[in-house]
Amino acid sequence: MHRLTAENITKEYPGGVRALRNVNLEIESGEILTIFGPSGSGKTTLINVLGLLDKPTEGSVYLDGKEINSLKESEKCEIMNSKFGFIFQFFYLIPELTVVENVMLPLWIREKSGLKLKYYQEEAEALLDEFGLTGRKNFYPSTLSGGELQRVAICRSLICNPPIIFADEPTGSIDKKSSEVFFKIVKSLNEKRNITFIIGTHNEKFLQFATKVVYLNQGEIEKIEEK
Ligand SMILES: Nc1ncnc2c1ncn2[C@@H]1O[C@H](COP(=O)(O)OP(=O)(O)OP(=O)(O)O)[C@@H](O)[C@H]1O
Ligand SMILES: [Mg+2]
Repeated sequence: MHRLTAENITKEYPGGVRALRNVNLEIESGEILTIFGPSGSGKTTLINVLGLLDKPTEGSVYLDGKEINSLKESEKCEIMNSKFGFIFQFFYLIPELTVVENVMLPLWIREKSGLKLKYYQEEAEALLDEFGLTGRKNFYPSTLSGGELQRVAICRSLICNPPIIFADEPTGSIDKKSSEVFFKIVKSLNEKRNITFIIGTHNEKFLQFATKVVYLNQGEIEKIEEK
């Protein structure tokens, strides 16, 4: 069980843009939290701060009561690698690596050893099979469709078995059909593996199956809706 807490988070970018103002939020294990708001409201910034990809200007992020935003870089990386999974809008797969290599990479990094390559590969292949990508394992990302790339990105986010997955505008670059597949996958991973999802989006479809919706506007939480 995990609890992620944001306390009085303010984020000011160089140049003076206040992207987040005094954000307070509690995210419990097993939630599907949707961060909803118009373009520029601070969704990506909030996800990046909660996921330790960026530092807040003020305030703290806690994981199970421990402040994690001020840890050493190496300790943060450890948490990101073992507790967090990330799905980005543009996937950020490594073009020089095949699909299976992209998926196994976080596990390889976590284990810090090249001795178990066969095991990493088997784990990655099992996930790719589960997500209907059996025939695409040895392809390069540039040869896949948007929906396929997204499923690869989901597999990569799952390989280290994280309890919390962040997804920033995950349906932003795929069509309606692939979005439906994504909703089903999120729901089933949430139910079967109790994975917590933190999803930043302006896709209203996400409002339907979220357990909690945070409405952001100009860097401030307007309201929090519990479902
Ligand atoms: N690196 C940066 N430097 C300066 N300002 C930034 C930076 N990144 C974001 N901003 C500004 O911070 C505000 C919030 O941006 P953010 O990307 O978090 O919004 P968002 O809700 O994710 O928007 P979108 O829906 O368009 O992705 C915006 O006004 C944006 O211009
Ligand atoms: Mg964004």
